[in-house]
Amino acid sequence: PILSLLEIGGVKIGKDDVVRENDPTNNVTDSIFSKIGLQLHRRDNHPIGILKNAIYDYFDANYGGKFIKFDDICPLVSVKENFDDVLVPANHVSRSYNDTYYVDAQTVLRCHTSAHQAELLRRGHSHFLVTGDVYRRDSIDSTHYPVFHQMEGVRVFSPAEWIPSGLDATSYAATDLKKSLEGLARRLFGAVEMRWVDTYFPFTNPSFELEIYFQEKWMEVLGCGVTEQEILRRNGRLDNIAWAFGLGLERLAMVLFEIPDIRLFWLTDKRFTSQFSGGQLGVKFNPFSKFPPCYKDMSFWINDSFTENNLCEVVRGIAGDLVEEVRLIDNFNKKGMTSHCYRIAYRSMERSLTDEEINELQLNVREQVQSKLNVVLR
Ligand code: PHE
Repeated sequence: PILSLLEIGGVKIGKDDVVRENDPTNNVTDSIFSKIGLQLHRRDNHPIGILKNAIYDYFDANYGGKFIKFDDICPLVSVKENFDDVLVPANHVSRSYNDTYYVDAQTVLRCHTSAHQAELLRRGHSHFLVTGDVYRRDSIDSTHYPVFHQMEGVRVFSPAEWIPSGLDATSYAATDLKKSLEGLARRLFGAVEMRWVDTYFPFTNPSFELEIYFQEKWMEVLGCGVTEQEILRRNGRLDNIAWAFGLGLERLAMVLFEIPDIRLFWLTDKRFTSQFSGGQLGVKFNPFSKFPPCYKDMSFWINDSFTENNLCEVVRGIAGDLVEEVRLIDNFNKKGMTSHCYRIAYRSMERSLTDEEINELQLNVREQVQSKLNVVLR
């Protein structure tokens, strides 16, 4: 059952405030609403909570408890907090209705914990960690889910800290940042293969990503960098330098606990939950069974407004966590029209699905893809 009134960090949220089907400024679905307030990161016996606590321990041990921790800040934030305050440009894709869940034109479900940086800096904090659920419209596969958990870390330095080093402020912060995160990664993973990649974020410069080798691929697990001076200036910290990072807890936990599919984190099935307990980092998950996947292909002529994220939202709305992957397998043009063929993998984490059940889901998917996305089935 979906609770229709929630309270998170002192903020009351009614379902009707967040989900409005016929309002074009709103694209939050029932299935997204049902995740708000679950706060997996605050469960000490859940892999996400266990990992959060292990990262807390690392920072406590290395910084003598200086990092202040927040893990109950409401995920409904203003567009200003989520984007403007961290200098995301007006035309950046992450602001689109295709990428972000909007409650109305001014309010979103935060797409990153960076949404809280500015306010906490303004309040004068110099060392903080913010953990929370974040929301992104995205494609469907084993490492992507529209709700996941991030931990943000920010450290602010005063001139007295970097001047004696002889380094310029930016190099000083960048060196300290990489050292801290490498220490964290070593503490969590020991010998896993990792690499730093230079990247771009609107809020940091220089910016880096840390990648870890998992399931035969390099997987991004965190973004970080030296905070843009403009953010410090706007929040009353003009003479300082700072670093920031944002790490994806699911992805780290998948590697640490060998959890093969991101949907598993949401299971309430005892066969999953009973395998983890507080303080035990990196106990290997023992898959209780692998049920066979079932593949269904569908082809259609797309229109100009078609996006894969919209398709995935429709599929998830019908099949929920029974859908494992939605993948484009063919794509061609003919007489100015474009055809896409998608392969949908259905698989339950808990049981075998019957043919009837899958056929029914697929029939619904075909109908709604046609009616909601205005594409022409082939
Ligand atoms: N907010 C970024 C993301 O979600 C991560 C990040 C945080 C990068 C802080 C740099 C600094 O991808």
